[in-house]
Amino acid sequence: MEKRIISTEFIEEDSKIESSLRPKLLTEYIGQRKAKETLQIYIEAAKERKEALDHVLLYGPPGLGKTTLACIIANEMDVGIKITSGPAIEKPGDMASILNNLNEGDILFVDEIHRLNRQVEEVMYPAMEDFGIDIVIGKGPSARSVRLDLPHFTLIGATTRAGMLTAPLRDRFGVIHRLEFYDEKELEEIVKRSSKVLKVSIDDKGASEIARRSRGTPRLANRLLKRVRDFAQVKYDGKITGEVAADALDILEVDRMGLDKIDRTILQSMIDNYSGGPVGLDAIAVSIGEDRDTIEDVYEPFLIQKGLIARTPRGRVVTEKAYGYLGL
Ligand code: ADE
Repeated sequence: MEKRIISTEFIEEDSKIESSLRPKLLTEYIGQRKAKETLQIYIEAAKERKEALDHVLLYGPPGLGKTTLACIIANEMDVGIKITSGPAIEKPGDMASILNNLNEGDILFVDEIHRLNRQVEEVMYPAMEDFGIDIVIGKGPSARSVRLDLPHFTLIGATTRAGMLTAPLRDRFGVIHRLEFYDEKELEEIVKRSSKVLKVSIDDKGASEIARRSRGTPRLANRLLKRVRDFAQVKYDGKITGEVAADALDILEVDRMGLDKIDRTILQSMIDNYSGGPVGLDAIAVSIGEDRDTIEDVYEPFLIQKGLIARTPRGRVVTEKAYGYLGL
């Protein structure tokens, strides 16, 4: 079967280098042990039966490798992958055409799947369940519905908000995985692997310094690595040591816990304007001038994971630990 990667605007956004930093095989993929181990089994089983893999839903904060995993699954299954995103598909006809153009066994990766509109989502139900879509031909009393058979495909949906998926859509995924933040050791390995790809010299301390400040997120670890590489090249002798990394990351205002300026502004604003909470996300968003969804998807999960804020039924509160961290 001819293998194809049909990229949309989504992948072109990434530079060539960035895609070369992405591992191609499950064995090269660091972290997410649970997801990796189980996917390995499902892939092997589906291949043995010569069937398409069951539909997979991946959820969790941005930058943890949902797209990377989808590409790896396609690679391991030896099938093509079409990459798109929820908001990019406006009409049911667009989705029907994408589905109809897939080859047997291909993967359709839909990022931000919680943002598919209602009509498009309804096309997905019979497509996922019975590999068919119903097309209405004609208008008025003479209108009739014709079923179009689709190739057996695998839908891989990715979302930062599993809670925003409707139940009928969520229920049609056979495999559901929550991706977790990476620990420092895993990130250190990723930084070392990426350094090799980028041909930049780095020592253990340099890698661990970048890992520690990457808020559990490979995408950020790789971004910081590239910025630190620039400092190493211009201000130092090109090698990334602990000292070089710490100096560069201090200048980038990424602190020892990985918090950046916006994280600190969120905490400070909750303390200064709302006596530490409870306060709603909308109020926080307005008071610091950031997008509400960005706070919910990007900043809050990390601050909660670090134990700096907590969710209560009445809103978010700043924890004791955060006061200590801010030196208050
Ligand atoms: N690059 C980005 N994410 C990665 C991961 N999980 N494993 C290895 N390299 C990566």
